Formats: sequence, structure tokens, C-alpha cells
Amino acid sequence: PELYAPERPNSKGFDLGHAPTLARIEQARAPWHTHGWQAAPLIAGDAAPEAAEDVINPSDLTAVGQVTPASAADVEQALAAAQPWDAPAAERAAALNKAADLYEENFGELFAILAREAGKSIPDAVAELREAVDFMRYYAANIPEAAPAGVFTCISPWNFPLAIFSGQISAGLACGNAVLAKPAEQTPLIAHRAISLMHEAGVPRSALQLLPGQGSKIGAALTGDARVDGVAFTGSTATAMRIRSTMAETLRPGAPLIAETGGLNAMIVDSTALPEQAVQSIIESAFQSAGQRCSALRCLYLQDDVADGVLTMLKGAMDVLNLGDPWHLNVDSGPVIDAGARAGILAHIDQARAEGRVLKEMSTPQAGTFVGPTLISITGIGDLEQEIFGPVLHVARFKSQDLDKIINDINATGYGLTFGLHTRIDDRVQHVCDRIHAGNIYVNRNQIGAIVGSQPFGGEGLSGTGPKAGGPNYLARFCAPDRQTSPE
Ligand code: NAD
Ligand code: ALA
Repeated sequence: PELYAPERPNSKGFDLGHAPTLARIEQARAPWHTHGWQAAPLIAGDAAPEAAEDVINPSDLTAVGQVTPASAADVEQALAAAQPWDAPAAERAAALNKAADLYEENFGELFAILAREAGKSIPDAVAELREAVDFMRYYAANIPEAAPAGVFTCISPWNFPLAIFSGQISAGLACGNAVLAKPAEQTPLIAHRAISLMHEAGVPRSALQLLPGQGSKIGAALTGDARVDGVAFTGSTATAMRIRSTMAETLRPGAPLIAETGGLNAMIVDSTALPEQAVQSIIESAFQSAGQRCSALRCLYLQDDVADGVLTMLKGAMDVLNLGDPWHLNVDSGPVIDAGARAGILAHIDQARAEGRVLKEMSTPQAGTFVGPTLISITGIGDLEQEIFGPVLHVARFKSQDLDKIINDINATGYGLTFGLHTRIDDRVQHVCDRIHAGNIYVNRNQIGAIVGSQPFGGEGLSGTGPKAGGPNYLARFCAPDRQTSPE
């Protein structure tokens, strides 16, 4: 494929600084404010799903709709009916581009589902739709010559329930695979709507089937069947390891697993950094999307000389963050995804509080599964045993002479997803970037929000297998390199 497909523009998105655009968004979302959606398996043939379950809005704990999860019989039916998409590449590309157009046309409904099912603020929803559309158009523009792998299972997380979901699926489809899509338990409604739009755009049902349900049941069945030729997974490192062992027992040797997983992402702010710029980056990296991004900042290293000043500014910036129902435009940060996630994060904060290490915490709205942005003091990244997937930032101090030691400590976690550096010393940029093991490195800016085509996204070590999503090498993993015939 042509590197970065320069002829393919990214989605324009929405300018939230433009009042008429905001009014357009409000108008398009309004009819969906109290709407109830239904999700169910979308398979080739008749489904016989399980009993319906409520899907809960994390901001107020009301039902946003219902899902009827796939049954074991639905999985069997979908596997039996799956047919690689043998239309010419140009036809597949046209359908994916059409699906991207339909996503953009339906932005009001999609933003509403993202707010009410996934707790996404308006800026987050805008970014999510842009990324979904960018993935589809990028992969449509870069279809390789090689034959498809065959049948691909795509398993996605709830934190990018449209963008990552659509990215994996459109990659599989672009290459001509049959795709079996298993969305996260928490976000079946947006998944159902997205697959319906892809079908409307011309993707045949035999090539694209939706199987909502539990990971341990439906996900396990779809990664442990010899009729599956490859798996694209995004989620936690622990689940990726479970899937790898299931695949090793069941799938043919060499069946690809593309796993994009968690991180213990660090940022170093040295004494030459611009404090206002660093604080802005820290707030966005740690607390945007309620810290529920794999890319989010988890461990901030502040050089001793400037640490007190930066912390004072950081606490002040946290004080003006507005937590609440992300339906409203004035909200900076919404809830965490569900009660289980909230309980796990609060247990971590409680332990730090008991040890006298909480530097700042904030009150939260009463209803819903909110966690206030929190700062916790640590001695170094080695104190963190696991990724805390929420708005919790750990802060450590370092002395200039210890820079190489903390680089080693960061690398020693075994994760390698994102890394941020704030400095005005050019030599230091080179020194640190040459040594840090991370898929995406950001200098003097925030460390979230990679852009398809210009910042391919993915990690190394415990953070993922590669190849990076939204980059020139991704689609090759969805193809069978040993088969010569092209479907064209
Ligand atoms: P998760 O691992 O709990 O679930 C992810 C998906 O895997 C869900 O669809 C789930 O149903 C499914 N699943 C669970 N058990 C399974 C099994 N045994 N077999 C097959 N499928 C199974 O992760 P999550 O809580 O949904 O998402 C948060 C995690 O995702 C965080 O660790 C975050 O860092 C990571 N993430 C990584 C990236 C990336 O690009 N690297 C992007 C987003 C999220
Ligand atoms: N691609 C997402 C980001 O960069 C995860 O924040």
C-alpha cells in the first residue's frame, strides 16, 4: 500500500468553537435524548438469542435500551454461514466509503448513543466518529493485493465502542474476510447501529455478522473454533493472553492474533518545560474521557526543582474541571463505564488514602458511576502493579541525574504504549526518545488522540502485538501471505 495514503483526507469532524455547528449538533441529537435502542445478533440466517437485558446509562443508571445476547446456537449458525467477501476490491472499498458517509449522516443519533451508553462527552464523541470514519476510508484506500485470511473474529472494548469496533471490522472486510464481530458487553447498542449502517452500505450479511454477548462465552467461542482463521482483539492484556492460549489449542498454527492492549503510560516533565503547556497536556492526557483511554497518562514524573509549582497549577486546573452527564456541552469529564469499574478504581484510591498518599481528590455527582479526578503520590512507576483504568494520576519526583534510571524503570514495566515528554532541551528529546520503549511518543503536547494515517497507533511488549492500527502495515495481517490468488 501507498505509505500513509496522502491522497485520502481525514474526516473534517465538527468545529466545536463554531456556534452554528454546536446548534446543528444539539438539533441532531435532540430526538434521541430519551430514545430506547434495541440490540440483537445480526447473523446470516435466523437468530435464537438469549433473554433481553437492560443496557445502562452510566451517568444516571437508567436503561438506554435492551440487548438480546447471542446464544451458542447463534454462534454456530454464524460460523457455518460466514463467507469471505469475494467482491472486487473496488466494490468493497465503495461499500466501506459508503458506510463512512452513513456514519457521518447519522451523527446526531451516534453522538446520542455514545453519550448515553458509553458516557462520552461531546468532544469525545466528535473525535470517536472522526476516528471511525478515518479508519474505514483509510483501509478502503489501501486494500492489498493478497488474498484474505478467511474468517476473522473481531473483539473490541467499550472505551472506543465505535472507532475501534469499526476499525477492526473495516480492516477485515477491506481485505475480503468474513468478519464475526463481538462488541464489549457494555456497548452493544452502538455496535448494533454501526453494523446496521455497514449492511445498509452494501456489506453482505454472510461477510459481516454481529454477535453481542459475554466475552467468556461468545468471545471464547469465537476465538476457539477451527473455522476461524485470525483474531483482531483490543482490550486488556490479561484477556489477550487468555485468547492467545485458546487460539493455540484450537486454531491452525500461525493463525494471526492482532492484540492491542493496556499500558502503564508515563510522562516526564523536566525543569525547562513550559509549565502552562505541561499542565494542559497532563489534564488532557490523564483526565479526558475520565482516564478511560489505553493511551492515558498513568504516571507523571516531575523534576524536583519544578514539582511544587507544577503541582499547584495542576490542582488549580483540576478544580475547574466539570464532572457530570456528558450529554451537556459544559461537561469536561463523564462517568466511568459501570459500577464494577468504579468499585475497582475506588478501592485503589482508598488504599492510597489509607497510606496518606492522596494529593488531591474531587467530589462527584450523586447519581451515576462517577469517580473524581485524583492525584496519588508514588516513589516511581515500579510502585504500580497494574493499569488503573480511570481518572487517577500517579505522581513521582525525580532529580536530573536520575533521568536514565527512570527511563529504565518505565521500560522495566514491560508495557510500551504511549509516552510523553515535556522539555525545551532538544538533545534531551533525542536522548529520551532513543531509549524509551513505547509505540507512540509525544513531545510537548498531550499523549492521547492519535490520528489515523499520520499517527498509526499501537504498542509493544505487554501493550500489543502490532502492527499499528491506522498505519501502512496493518492490513497485511488480515491477509493470507501464502495464497497467491487475489479476489480481483
Ligand atoms: P476486556 O479485556 O475486559 O474486554 C475486551 C473485550 O474482550 C470485550 O469485548 C470482552 O467481552 C472480550 N472478552 C473478555 N473475555 C474474553 C475471552 N475469554 N475470550 C474472548 N473475548 C473476551 O477490556 P475492556 O475492559 O473492555 O477494555 C479496557 C482495556 O482495553 C484496557 O486495558 C485498555 O488499556 C485496553 N485498550 C487498549 C487499546 C489499544 O489500542 N491498545 C485501546 C482501547 C482499550
Ligand atoms: N487511539 C486512542 C488514542 O490515541 C486510543 O487516544
